[in-house]
Amino acid sequence: MRLDVFTQVPHAFGWMTEQKPLATVLGTELELRLFNYRDTTPLRAGQVDDSPYGGGAGMVLRVDVVAAALDAAYGDDRPARVIALTPQGRQLDQALVEELAAEPSIAVLSSRFEGFDARIVDNLCTDAISIGPYVLSGGELPSMVLLDALARRVPGALTDGSGEHESFSLALDRGLEYPHYTRPAEYRGWSVPTVLLSGDHGKIERWRSEQSRVRSIR
Ligand SMILES: C[S@@+](CC[C@H](N)C(=O)[O-])C[C@H]1O[C@@H](n2cnc3c(N)ncnc32)[C@H](O)[C@@H]1O
Repeated sequence: MRLDVFTQVPHAFGWMTEQKPLATVLGTELELRLFNYRDTTPLRAGQVDDSPYGGGAGMVLRVDVVAAALDAAYGDDRPARVIALTPQGRQLDQALVEELAAEPSIAVLSSRFEGFDARIVDNLCTDAISIGPYVLSGGELPSMVLLDALARRVPGALTDGSGEHESFSLALDRGLEYPHYTRPAEYRGWSVPTVLLSGDHGKIERWRSEQSRVRSIR
């Protein structure tokens, strides 16, 4: 899978590319490319945004700048999904992450300040995605959220099986995962459920599905 992120702050991604699970799959199962709008802007002095028509505070990312960045990266051969990250988009959930993880390549556009000229979302993008109903200062953290969630779905990113039974997975009917415990078995009077110490895998399996079911309907 190839993920292309368009940003004004490519260096923000440095830390993330060194962390698991991304570091494990980068360069093999997952290719990450970072594009800076400033490198391809048709405007002078690296300008990428402008003041809003109709007045008001803040700067708006220009449509000609984003079109130039996409043209330079792809010519006429754009990825099937070109995603604008915006708090006004469809809210990201695990089902959408899995849908996107099945794509061979994705472009992710981030903005800052007042956001995108609306013509970018309307004409240059296939999707508008929000990471939640709150406003951040820029699309870099949302891009990293999407990147991390996608990287976990790429083959080889996680140790075998650890991604199959986690919260929101199909294996758990999109519900929450059962609780986990580790040593010590007793601490300050807080005990690990005895079933987990029983060695009876059938019983443990049934207990876990029941715990997952109960947590998911709360
Ligand atoms: C300050 S926000 C712009 C908010 C916009 N003026 C509004 O009220 O809807 C700047 C940029 O950060 C990114 N961003 C902020 N919050 C986000 C969220 N919840 N989900 C996805 N992207 C977000 C987007 O790229 C957005 O264009």
